[in-house]
Amino acid sequence: MNILGINAYHANASAALVCDGRLVTAVEEERFNRVKYAAGFPEHAVRHCLSEAGLTIKDIDHVAVPRKPWARLATKLFYASRMPRFAFDRIKAWKHFRGIHEDLAAACDIDPEAIRAQYHRVEHHVAHLASAFFVSPFDSAAVLSTDGLGDFASTMWATGEGSRLRVHGAVAFPHSLGLYYTALSQYLGFWRFGDEYKVMGLAAYGEPAHVPELRHVVKPHPTKGFELGLEYFCHHRTGPEMTWQESGKTPVLGQLFSPYLEERLGKTRPASEPVGKKHQDIAASMQVVLEEAYFRLLNQLHKTTPHSQICLAGGVAFNCVANGKIFDHTPFTQVYVQPAAGDAGLSVGAAYYVFHQILGQPRTFIMDHAYWGPQFDSEAIASALEGSQVHTLGSPVHELADEELMRHTAQHLAGGKIVGWYQGRQEWGPRALGNRSILVDPRRAEMKDILNQRIKHREIFRPFAPSILEEATGQYFEHSHPSPFMNLAYSVVPEKRAAIPAPTHVDGTGRLQTVSRQTNPRYWALIKEFEKITGVPVLLNTSFNENEPIVLTPKEAIDCFLRTRMDVLVLGNYLIEKPPAESSPAERVEAANTSKA
Ligand SMILES: [Fe+2]
Repeated sequence: MNILGINAYHANASAALVCDGRLVTAVEEERFNRVKYAAGFPEHAVRHCLSEAGLTIKDIDHVAVPRKPWARLATKLFYASRMPRFAFDRIKAWKHFRGIHEDLAAACDIDPEAIRAQYHRVEHHVAHLASAFFVSPFDSAAVLSTDGLGDFASTMWATGEGSRLRVHGAVAFPHSLGLYYTALSQYLGFWRFGDEYKVMGLAAYGEPAHVPELRHVVKPHPTKGFELGLEYFCHHRTGPEMTWQESGKTPVLGQLFSPYLEERLGKTRPASEPVGKKHQDIAASMQVVLEEAYFRLLNQLHKTTPHSQICLAGGVAFNCVANGKIFDHTPFTQVYVQPAAGDAGLSVGAAYYVFHQILGQPRTFIMDHAYWGPQFDSEAIASALEGSQVHTLGSPVHELADEELMRHTAQHLAGGKIVGWYQGRQEWGPRALGNRSILVDPRRAEMKDILNQRIKHREIFRPFAPSILEEATGQYFEHSHPSPFMNLAYSVVPEKRAAIPAPTHVDGTGRLQTVSRQTNPRYWALIKEFEKITGVPVLLNTSFNENEPIVLTPKEAIDCFLRTRMDVLVLGNYLIEKPPAESSPAERVEAANTSKA
């Protein structure tokens, strides 16, 4: 039985293919069309799913779509009658949605009549819940989905038992923790879609001095966990306005906060102005208030279910800082957040919802790694190298056996080099987890600045993340519960902070990836080799890209290597080192001095 999940006409468009309950592949459209958070119809992703399985669209039995336009219809009609523009946008979205069959046929270059699959509409948050629970390692669990808005709800909670989900409750528009975080991010001058994670990084620098005020913005609610102080917002009056850039592919959300927020907190920060102490303090306060509501929801959910396992999804589930504190603030002892916890994951969730909940099939699959994207074999890598400008560097391309490759790469890392590490199948979800990664030595505090100067160009307050051998987690972090998908942040134990300063955030935490020998033996072997040289079982891991979606093809990796001041590129078993002139020791000294200052 073949089920194609499609998240379309929505940010983070994606497709996933489930064959007889086994996930064959899952991938975001942005990796192909190179537009970050791309929306629209995921035509490339759909074609990839079919070709990966050797199928055609005629072989697909079910198409699962994570949107149910008639969900919460009464609430939608109520708000549509008050907000004509919003009603117009809804009608436009509905028209798009109705065209999915034709778009699918066009993507597959086939007559729409020839598609025999049955279509299923799965409500947005139900698909999120399914994406979290049905691929988790738990037979039963509490499940929570929290995001901005989807099918007119922002939050939903449930219990998962075997192949069934039982929804217990939801929070409907206009109340939303995701929109709260986005609104305050806008107020702080971060307007781009997906900027919330920058504010989460900024929060670590501030004092939560504005918590009393923000407790009027997000207030406790006896049954729903939270409600918004609507006087601080305008989305309930005007509708959450969405426009599109990059040929209609990148979403831009209109202003969500009202003038009353400025009355209470002062003027907003124009994006061009520097971030100051007040902004840091507001970011810190936002995070505290979000966590209060999040833990209230979780504790409330725990009272209705007997489970100590929690599965999380929705954009808020990317708040790794809050997730890392769940063990200390709730009775839950095991946490599962699949790698594409945001809207990309809806394609997987909808497909598994159809397989289990609708078709009644038993569970056999666990998503214990994130490597579900496309891959390119050694021949494809060799041909990309041959067709590239790598030869202009004047350095040989070495093809090394595994052991030698790990040893040489680890030596380069220990020597302070920036290494592009490209292996196997691409990661599913927004985090690079050791297959499309840029790696550096975590012991060198200056590497954060060097990475930013040479490649990443990020705001200085944004942290970089550590990858650690799973078995060493407890030696370096205050929790040892696995975090294979970088969705939890833990405190680094105080005596180890000096050992890994580059990926340790200013508040002493790290958004860690625990690396298992079973699920990524090559990356595990590389970190192990680095540990043999340095005594430290950790690498700093950031995504292989330069202000763009993570590189997909060997050509994109090579181009990024040549375009930036990366030192070493490892593609499969090929290793290329830039000549010394390309690296500037002076720059390193300068960065080291900046870092000390
Ligand atoms: Fe969502």
